[in-house]
Amino acid sequence: MLINLISDTVTKPVPEMLEAMMQAEVGDDVFGDDPTINALEKKAASMFGHEAALFCSSGTLSNQIAIRLNTQPLEEIICHKSSHIFWYETAAYAMISNVVINPIDSDDGKLHPDQIAQNQKPLIDWLPYTSMVEIENSCNREGGCYYTYAEMEALSAECKRLNLKFHLDGARIFNVLVETGDQPSDIGPMFDTISVCLSKGLGAPVGSMLISSAENIKKARRIRKSLGGGMRQAGYLAAAGIYALDHHIEKLRNDHAKARHTESLLKSLPYISSIKPVFTNIVIFDLAAQISTTHFLDYLKSNGILATAFGPKTIRFVFHLDITESMMPHLEKCLKSYLP
Ligand SMILES: Cc1ncc(COP(=O)(O)O)c(C=O)c1O
Repeated sequence: MLINLISDTVTKPVPEMLEAMMQAEVGDDVFGDDPTINALEKKAASMFGHEAALFCSSGTLSNQIAIRLNTQPLEEIICHKSSHIFWYETAAYAMISNVVINPIDSDDGKLHPDQIAQNQKPLIDWLPYTSMVEIENSCNREGGCYYTYAEMEALSAECKRLNLKFHLDGARIFNVLVETGDQPSDIGPMFDTISVCLSKGLGAPVGSMLISSAENIKKARRIRKSLGGGMRQAGYLAAAGIYALDHHIEKLRNDHAKARHTESLLKSLPYISSIKPVFTNIVIFDLAAQISTTHFLDYLKSNGILATAFGPKTIRFVFHLDITESMMPHLEKCLKSYLP
């Protein structure tokens, strides 16, 4: 038994998803002729209350296209300092869009409406112009915490007031929506552009959706092509995305329950010094000072449990579709019996 807690990107398609992929009707999407991709794009756009969507090969691609749409060279993006676009996308914003990021800190891992005006640069020749605000929901590096409907609404209103474009990195937005009970169409119109990953908790092997106005998505198709992201008979992958949206959203609740269960267990263990509050499927905790991170991870690995270091003493567990109920007793037993 392998318990892979490294990320929710490690899931493999379930047999029913593979069957849907096998049965997909496909065409050449660069010509706009793949019926399954067209159906997925229509579905995603309408779910989030927008006009159009674009199937992208990754969340990085959909985020970067959004940045290109929302900015001009020599401009600046405001986002939280833990954002994926700041940390993990190779500073591609600098290369593709010729912009910089102004990373903002806060105690709770989230960007606050008053921080936007405070950090927006005045319109002076020698300063970058602030043109876009980005939030990530849920917040990966911040332990899966999330912005509520009211928090997103307040940020959106502030962006409109200040004439700034507003992008949602919703790689894990469905993890948020199953917790808050909001519909995607409730929150979609708050944003100019939205990126949603199909290949994280939703369990598809590949794919992210960029969602926006018809005008933006027309431009986005051309930007995607220029970055080498035009795909041909990718309807086989889109079929997995449709299956994921139809069948896997509600299942995210199971991942959250397992994450919370693990949080309670970790709280009782003497070799753990602190745990970030668990809100969704991510558990981030610190080992006590005397514990070797390598020793702990090697111990887990020798017991068939894979996890990743998220800092010198910090470990991240991510729960997902492939972590079954039957795996939990083994995980629990191994965590309880660890001897430093
Ligand atoms: C919050 C967030 N945004 C974007 C991405 C990028 O997705 P991809 O790995 O498909 O490029 C990730 C991937 O882990 C992520 O966690």
